[in-house]
Amino acid sequence: MFRAMTVPLGLLLALLGCTRAVDPALEEAWEGWKSLYAKEYPEEAEVIRREVWEKNLRRIEQHNWEESQGQHMFRLGMNHYGDLMDEEFNQLLNGFTPLQHEEPALTFQASAARKTPAEVDWRVKGYVTPVKNQGHCGSCWAFSATGALEGLVFNWTGKLTVLSEQNLIDCTRKLGNNGCQGGYMTRAFQYVRENGGLNSELVYPYQATDTSSCRYNPGDRAANCSTVWLVAQGSEAALEQAVATVGPVSVAVDASSFSFHFYKSGITSCTWRSGGIFSSMFCSQKVNHGMLAVGYGTSQEGGKNVSYWILKNSWSELWGEQGYIRLLKGADSHCGVANQASFPLL
Ligand SMILES: *[C@@H]1O[C@H](CO)[C@@H](O)[C@H](O)[C@H]1NC(C)=O
Ligand SMILES: *[C@@H]1O[C@H](CO)[C@@H](O)[C@H](O)[C@H]1NC(C)=O
Ligand SMILES: *[C@@H]1O[C@H](CO)[C@@H](O)[C@H](O)[C@H]1NC(C)=O
Repeated sequence: MFRAMTVPLGLLLALLGCTRAVDPALEEAWEGWKSLYAKEYPEEAEVIRREVWEKNLRRIEQHNWEESQGQHMFRLGMNHYGDLMDEEFNQLLNGFTPLQHEEPALTFQASAARKTPAEVDWRVKGYVTPVKNQGHCGSCWAFSATGALEGLVFNWTGKLTVLSEQNLIDCTRKLGNNGCQGGYMTRAFQYVRENGGLNSELVYPYQATDTSSCRYNPGDRAANCSTVWLVAQGSEAALEQAVATVGPVSVAVDASSFSFHFYKSGITSCTWRSGGIFSSMFCSQKVNHGMLAVGYGTSQEGGKNVSYWILKNSWSELWGEQGYIRLLKGADSHCGVANQASFPLL
């Protein structure tokens, strides 16, 4: 499932700058990591991948040491992306750019009349399929969209059906989506609405490539939608009400930081006050990665109540908290979480 890198060697050397010898003390750990994730490299690439991996490992250890000193609310962990540099990671996996001119859609506004529970988790209500893996393809937008549609189908039928990202990748080019080079959840919903359906993963399986033509089969319709909704931009209150009353909602975040790539557990935040202000995770309002908000909650951290969003990712269960991240909630749309939220309805 995890293939060796295909980035040209010349580019790698240029990005790395000067080369440094590898640390012989890490030999066993490196071999163990390669074998765990079935990594194989051409001989000339191995030393470079090892250096990238060691650099990532040192940054992860540094962060976790800081966490043990009370400077962060979350921990990092080595994962299957350990041989990627930040630049490569963002090129390969983040496939969402904010839309300036949105297609006609309805806007979901916060309303004082709508009461929301203190905690919501659609996973325990059966609305959420197992965590998927987009592979080396910037198709996060398709995974985010199927997630919202899977919740909608569950609400209507009471049945959980895994829906097809490949169907969206192959068939939404005419709406301006760009396969593994990125796309928009709203355009995916628009396709399902105009097409009058979407196939399931079972009949239209994921390939992590974008070179196939559209093979939608109307005889195998597994989902439908009739309207596309945008959550009022930047409003976490509206997002909370949407998540509480509709079900899982598609969101986009800035996922370009090192801390995001190697997130392991806890509540991610930019700043966390603990006798001082520490900068934990850099993230901007410029969103680049599609995810699925499946709920929210509050936990006690250092004697304080800290609220968070529960976001489903598509980087496999090996990443984060079994494939999920908890992101600080109620802090001016942290990482842009409320900036491009959307959902379909039937
Ligand atoms: C679907 O949503 C409606 C309205 O929120 C709710 O009353 C109903 O119980 C939901 N159905 C399922 C299967 O969860
Ligand atoms: C989905 O939409 C199509 C086209 O509007 C319609 O023919 C079909 O009955 C709908 N299916 C469901 C399950 O609602
Ligand atoms: C945290 O929330 C709980 C439950 O809402 C509340 O009882 C408690 O007083 C809160 N603690 C702080 C420190 O705000």
